[in-house]
Amino acid sequence: MRIHLLGTGAGGGFPQWNCNCDNCSRLRSGTIKSTPRTQSSITVSGNGEDWILFNASPDIRAQIESFSPLQPARKIRDTGIAAIILCDAQIDHTTGLIIMREHDKPWNVYCTSAVHEDMTTGYPIFNMLSHFRGVNWHEVKTDQSTFTIPKAENLIFTAVPLKSEAPPYSPHRHATVAGDNVGFKIEDMMTKKNLFYAPGLGVIEEHVLEYMKNADCILVDGTVWTNDEMARHGISDKLASEMGHLDQSSKGGIMETLISLEKPRKILIHINNTNPILDEDSPERKMLNDAGIEVSFDGMEIEI
Ligand code: MLT
Ligand code: MN
Ligand code: ZN
Repeated sequence: MRIHLLGTGAGGGFPQWNCNCDNCSRLRSGTIKSTPRTQSSITVSGNGEDWILFNASPDIRAQIESFSPLQPARKIRDTGIAAIILCDAQIDHTTGLIIMREHDKPWNVYCTSAVHEDMTTGYPIFNMLSHFRGVNWHEVKTDQSTFTIPKAENLIFTAVPLKSEAPPYSPHRHATVAGDNVGFKIEDMMTKKNLFYAPGLGVIEEHVLEYMKNADCILVDGTVWTNDEMARHGISDKLASEMGHLDQSSKGGIMETLISLEKPRKILIHINNTNPILDEDSPERKMLNDAGIEVSFDGMEIEI
């Protein structure tokens, strides 16, 4: 399976258009060892030709231009994207659907019924798209049953329910339901290897830990280094945990869990622009390096 990381930043990207934090301002002035990151999305292929898009970011246009296998090649209106899977209904993961409204047929979109509800109420992108070619919704169950997708040769998908948060505009904002946030196990039947992908993860529950232990590669929530990171920058009064993201550095945080895993390659994704790990010369980045944890970047390729 080929995995291509289209966007490795969190909502807002890096630099964020209105952000003057240390990282964003140093990136603009060229005084940080780092690279820009677009918003959260990956694409996966079992045959190298047809691609499953995980999350449709507002940056999808530039992301498609950055990766030729997704570009039109066979007819006048065309794409290498065979279907779209959504992990949640957040703006950074769904707004690209609007950008891709010119598709010549309905998009095959795979998401849970909770996400479908958000996308037809609080953020009614599916309703809007019905005025274009529409959406073929395929319900993703939260019972951890496996499913396959036409054209996604050799790949078997499992949605893994995660504790995180529903978006601010969701009817479930203050009472999350199963399916508001899911991660995915993607297994290649040929290589027998599997990826676990969870860009938004608030709590590492026992079943999540099992998926992590058994994965060959993990792409997991790298939003913040500390829970109060955005508050300390004076950006938001919200803790990362209130936004459904588990920090990296605290006791019981993402780093501690990743260190305990023996089998998988461990990679952080969905990195917020305030996170000190974006600075390749930072002590925090060195801690990750020493622990064998990688920080993803746009354009990163993984083959398992
Ligand atoms: C999140 O991951 O918590 C959201 O994408 C935040 C946002 O709306 O940018
Ligand atoms: Mn996000
Ligand atoms: Zn910033």
